[in-house]
Amino acid sequence: WIEPILAVFFGYMLGAIPFGLLLTRLTGGGDLREIGSGNIGATNVLRTGNKAIAALTLLLDVGKGAVAVLIAVNFDKGLGVLAGMGAFLGHLYPVWLKFKGGKGVATLLGIVTALAPVLGIVFAVTWLSGLVILRYSSVSGMLACISVPITAVIVGLYSWIPMFIGFALLVIWKHRANIERLMAGEEPKVGAS
Ligand code: G3P
Repeated sequence: WIEPILAVFFGYMLGAIPFGLLLTRLTGGGDLREIGSGNIGATNVLRTGNKAIAALTLLLDVGKGAVAVLIAVNFDKGLGVLAGMGAFLGHLYPVWLKFKGGKGVATLLGIVTALAPVLGIVFAVTWLSGLVILRYSSVSGMLACISVPITAVIVGLYSWIPMFIGFALLVIWKHRANIERLMAGEEPKVGAS
């Protein structure tokens, strides 16, 4: 009975590492929470003007979700899923930042790619086309997260659908300030600020 708890805890600890915040601070960019949207993700790191650190944040935020699943799945497939859940919750609600974490898009990409690559491919295509066409990181990210349960239905990954719906709903909940800005016409487009 201890293994499931350890898997969630392991995933949580990995997911809770706020790479965007740490890298921005380490490279003299200040406290990311006081910049732009205040979010700790790659989109907001980009607003500091440091493209390399934004790219590295994206890579590490995707990577921590994938690594959590890939390590735990070696022991048991179910433990991989639990570690992924832990990593997602760790990124959204990190104990180190008084549970005020990121919005989950990049970390979810890593988790679903490690669980089933087809989910990751559809996610990445949705995210990138959204970014190119709409230029809103928030909208593309939310659409990509919504693509996960839909793709799971199409490819028959039925047992994971409730979890994926839960993830997508949490991502949307975390974007509520973005949704308000979008409705007010005040959401900045990528590269515009
Ligand atoms: O992944 C986060 C992104 O969807 C929105 O970031 O900084 O514009 O709130 P931000």
